[in-house]
Amino acid sequence: MNDLWRNLPYTPHVGQAEIHAADARFKLAVAGARFGKSLSGAREMLRDTICGNGRGWVVAPLYALVRPEFSYLAHDAAALAQLRTVRTGGRDGYSRLTTCCGGEILGLSAHSPFSLLGEELDWLILCEAAHLEREAWERYLRPRLGTRLGRMVASSTPRGGNWMHELYVRATDGRDWARFHYATWDNPGITPQEIEAARRALPADVFDEQYGGQFMPLSGRVFPEFCVATHTGRLEAPPGCRVTRGIDFGFTNPMAVVWVAEDGDGRLLVLREFYRAGMIVEQAAAEIARIDEELRAEGLVIGMGYADPSGPAHIATLCENGLPTARAAGGVAHGIDLVRAALKTRPDGTPGLRIDSGCANLIREMEAYSWHEGDAENEKQPDKRRDHAVDALRYAVAGLRHGVRVRVSNPA
Ligand SMILES: Nc1ncnc2c1ncn2[C@@H]1O[C@H](COP(=O)(O)OP(=O)(O)OP(=O)(O)O)[C@@H](O)[C@H]1O
Ligand SMILES: [Mg+2]
Repeated sequence: MNDLWRNLPYTPHVGQAEIHAADARFKLAVAGARFGKSLSGAREMLRDTICGNGRGWVVAPLYALVRPEFSYLAHDAAALAQLRTVRTGGRDGYSRLTTCCGGEILGLSAHSPFSLLGEELDWLILCEAAHLEREAWERYLRPRLGTRLGRMVASSTPRGGNWMHELYVRATDGRDWARFHYATWDNPGITPQEIEAARRALPADVFDEQYGGQFMPLSGRVFPEFCVATHTGRLEAPPGCRVTRGIDFGFTNPMAVVWVAEDGDGRLLVLREFYRAGMIVEQAAAEIARIDEELRAEGLVIGMGYADPSGPAHIATLCENGLPTARAAGGVAHGIDLVRAALKTRPDGTPGLRIDSGCANLIREMEAYSWHEGDAENEKQPDKRRDHAVDALRYAVAGLRHGVRVRVSNPA
């Protein structure tokens, strides 16, 4: 690939080079504004554009947003391979480009989904993907790549915890996907002075999103140190590890259970989650027991469960159904401190707590869990609307950290 760029004025910066180096069919790059997403996205597909007669689409939420990627491709293809390019159609002549080898690039807005039907593709660039509708990718675009095993690169500044965040969380599944996360300042062409000027001028949450590339604003987050790239991945606990359950009850709201293993070095690994509304505790107990069995089959030892102390009747039901469960120790603030301490990076450079990327609800809540806006510093409370799986995690961590102390202070 570098050979291809030799004749272009392009030296990828470190982040862009990482994106290009990945050997994955689908690449997802989430980054702050001006990181160089459009340029790297276009250069990623350059080889496919000039070699052979493939068909590729550049798709954006609005037609105008197709232009940067499309221009880079059109310019490079002409400059590099001296291809005769013919531009036709489109309001400003940018929508279609054909090469003399029979290749075709189409720039499309995803505004009208039906325009996205009907063709098979060799490659696809999604521009500002977080602003596309989920449906555009799942129903109309992804299937276009099936017959030719087409490649895709999607780049975007984040936009809260929408479907793109979900895709990002799941992008560790399988070898087809690679995901990247960068801030504006990872583009060495943007001066630190400019970054600082923006930091001073913008509300903190806007800066975090648009410059820091954060899915959720760091400011106001209960777990600001939690980072999907650092704290999630495909996890396996060594056989023999003890697994603790954390349980938050709910019926209208989801009931949430997390399974947390502690490895020999005291690192916490959240291996599984259960997250379901509308299920009574007896029914949930059967599901929990089933997941316990799966983990036992992997050689893990299922230990105690720690649950919401305000649900003694539910705790009793779990115990009656063969799931030993105790009231979780400590208050909310203390539990949060314990989780934050566990998230910290250890001296060997690894985080003390990681979450399996299959636990999509917990990961979403870890990022979204925030303090009530406007509350005074000394009386702030976490937002109760999205705290089900995070509460379950808090109970498990409190149980793990205080299990001994509780037993000593309350001898049986
Ligand atoms: N490797 C590079 N070498 C030189 N200049 C670069 C490089 N990467 C990006 N740039 C420059 O940085 C600027 C931003 O690049 P680009 O438009 O690709 O970023 P972006 O992340 O898509 O921005 P936006 O958030 O506005 O969509 C452009 O002026 C581009 O030419
Ligand atoms: Mg761009």
